[in-house]
Amino acid sequence: MHNGRTYIVTGAASGIGAETCRQLRAAGARVIGVDRHDTDNADELFLSDLSDPAAIDDLATRLPEGADGLANIAGLPPTAAPDLLLKVNLIGLRRLTERLVPKLADGASIVNLASLAGFGWADALDQVRGALALDFDGDIAGFCADNRLAEGGRSYFLSKEALIVWTMQNRWTWRERGIRMNAISPGPVDTPILPDFIETLGARAEEDMRVMDRPGRPVDIAPVVGFLLSTGSGWLRGANIAADGGMSSHLLTGMHGL
Ligand SMILES: NC(=O)c1ccc[n+]([C@@H]2O[C@H](COP(=O)([O-])OP(=O)(O)OC[C@H]3O[C@@H](n4cnc5c(N)ncnc54)[C@H](O)[C@@H]3O)[C@@H](O)[C@H]2O)c1
Repeated sequence: MHNGRTYIVTGAASGIGAETCRQLRAAGARVIGVDRHDTDNADELFLSDLSDPAAIDDLATRLPEGADGLANIAGLPPTAAPDLLLKVNLIGLRRLTERLVPKLADGASIVNLASLAGFGWADALDQVRGALALDFDGDIAGFCADNRLAEGGRSYFLSKEALIVWTMQNRWTWRERGIRMNAISPGPVDTPILPDFIETLGARAEEDMRVMDRPGRPVDIAPVVGFLLSTGSGWLRGANIAADGGMSSHLLTGMHGL
């Protein structure tokens, strides 16, 4: 499925990104990793700070042409400063993607790691529009203060809501080149940032954990990334795949009294 293909994977040094690199390489792909931390998880690593526009532009220049896919997995958890979180999880992700598209192979697949935390995007459209209007030249800190994004991990939720919406909006943006974009929304996954979620969400996270049979593991998510990167998912465009042990179905059926 991946033999002879080349993928760029951000967040390669830890958690879901690390496992994605491992599985893609085991399946015969060449993996180009990106992270701010050193790692030997990839065939080649580009160190970069994805919160910094100059670093992102430099990275996009240095990355090779012709990759068959880009997995945007790097992300910060809810305890990060809200403006830094929006830069990494949304604004920088978009900038890197838009800079890289011209260098990707025709038919390439772009995969965005969203989250179950983005489930409520339809109830937050004003904030989502505001977040999607931000770029590095905008008043990101002011936007965070105006929208009280420091409270209760709201910056994280909004970053993922906006990422899901941006993925849907770009369902056909690069269609003439066969380049497509999809998202994955994991529920809680046992990686180094899981304790951070539990700390931020408190009783709500404990309730989620009680309802689920277990948290996810990186090995539960990486195969979904691999599927979306592969040609086998060629008709999926703008989709957001829940990989959450049933949590989104639990929420949806509950919301509709089913
Ligand atoms: N763990 C979960 O419960 C969970 C659930 C849903 C979605 N996600 C999403 O999955 C993705 C991966 O999360 P994870 O759990 O594997 O976390 P992780 O902390 O294990 O890995 C995140 C990686 O991103 C890198 N990174 C962070 N900021 C960076 C920056 N400025 N520049 C370059 N690299 C940077 C880190 O160095 C790290 O290697 C994130 O986008 C996260 O929001 C995680």
